[in-house]
Amino acid sequence: MSYKTVKPEELTNNVFNMIGHDWMLVCAEKNDKFNAMTASWGGMGVLWRKNVAYVFVRPQRYTYEFIEKSPKLTLSFFGEEYRDALRICGTKSGRECNKIAEAGLTPFSVNDGCTAFKEANIIMECTKMYAGFLREEDVVDPAVLNEYANGDYHKMYVVSIDRILVKN
Ligand SMILES: Cc1cc2nc3c(=O)[nH]c(=O)nc-3n(C[C@H](O)[C@H](O)[C@H](O)COP(=O)(O)O)c2cc1C
Repeated sequence: MSYKTVKPEELTNNVFNMIGHDWMLVCAEKNDKFNAMTASWGGMGVLWRKNVAYVFVRPQRYTYEFIEKSPKLTLSFFGEEYRDALRICGTKSGRECNKIAEAGLTPFSVNDGCTAFKEANIIMECTKMYAGFLREEDVVDPAVLNEYANGDYHKMYVVSIDRILVKN
C-alpha cells in the first residue's frame, strides 16, 4: 500500500459521484480512539481562499462526539468492492460494536491524530475551520424540513483539505 500526494486540482474524480454515489468515511479521534461513519451528504469547493470540504453530521452519531473533540478529521473514499463495508459503517454505531473490524477495514495513522483506512483509494486530511448547526428558522425551501421530522438538524463542518493521498 503506497500513496502519493496530489493537489486538489489534480483530482480527476467527480465530486458528485465520490460523495453522493460512492460515499465516504468520515473519521475523527478522541482520547486516542477513533470512530468513523459513512456519509453521502457533503461537498467540496473553495472558501476563505482554501480548498475545503463540507461535512454534515447529525448530533446523535457517535462520530459526532469525536469530530467535536478533534481539530482534524479524515475523509476516505473507496472502490465499489467496499460498498458493504461502507454500508456496515453507515448502519451500525461504534457505540455498540467494533464496526471497523466487522467491515474488514484496516485503520492506520496518516498523521498525528488522524486515522484513515488502508483500503481507501483516496484519503483527505482535513482541519476544521467552521462548525455550526443548520437551523429550522434558516430553511428557505420547506421540502428541507421533511429531512428533520425529529428535529435532529445536522451540524455542518467546513474543513480545509490539507493533504490528499491517492493510492498508487
Ligand atoms: C449511505 C449512507 C450515507 C449516510 N450519510 C450520512 C451523513 O451524511 N450524515 C450523517 O449524519 N449520517 C449519515 N449516515 C448515517 C450514519 O453513517 C450512521 O448513522 C452511522 O451508523 C453512524 O455511526 P456512529 O454512531 O458510529 O457514528 C449515512 C448512512 C448511510 C448508509
